[in-house]
Amino acid sequence: MQLRDNGLSFSPVTLVLHWTVAILFFSIAALAIAITNASDDAQRLEWTQLQNLLGAILFLVSIYRFWARVTSYHPLPLGTPNPVEVIASRSVATALALAMVLLPLAAWLTRCAAGDIVTLPGGWVIPAPFEPSARAHQVFGFLFKLGATAFLAGLALHIFGALKNHFVLKNDVLKRMLGKHVEL
Ligand code: HEM
Repeated sequence: MQLRDNGLSFSPVTLVLHWTVAILFFSIAALAIAITNASDDAQRLEWTQLQNLLGAILFLVSIYRFWARVTSYHPLPLGTPNPVEVIASRSVATALALAMVLLPLAAWLTRCAAGDIVTLPGGWVIPAPFEPSARAHQVFGFLFKLGATAFLAGLALHIFGALKNHFVLKNDVLKRMLGKHVEL
């Protein structure tokens, strides 16, 4: 099995991890909305613990994924896109991969700084690396919001690019990411 991307194709590992990360991200976002609207404390705690677990998995998977992205070739673009678009789309994709390492970390540090006890399902506690601090809470909270805003803008651009390739340019960019073998 091809383990790493090369100039001709994405590896199956990349394809599976790409969609695993997308599902994890959208599940965490949906849980954030559910937690905000929960009326019952027990339900809120259960969803928060599940969200923490998904965030921890996302963080660990994303460390490998970012390393794999920056140390392997990116397959050749399909069609005849202009070079600026290719550089921009690859930079955005790499930044998204990095954000999935940094944002879960920033979210965890923000909660630790606020003095929250971060728990997983079953009550397992993720130990805090430092004592609660109002100043650290302010700094990590600011970094998280800044990173999350940049990430959401990059993700919107990324999804827009994928949909434009699929529906307007009618090429195989999205299908290749869904596993279709494309001859270059
Ligand atoms: C509905 C959501 C998404 C769609 C439709 C989508 C679509 C795509 C497509 C079509 C490509 C291939 C681009 C190419 O051929 O060069 C790609 C690559 C990539 N996407 Fe997404 N994407 C989505 C969500 C995400 C998310 C949430 C991330 C966040 C980390 C992400 C990060 C990446 C990265 C890093 C690559 C480069 C390949 C890799 O290393 O995985 N994508 N995406």
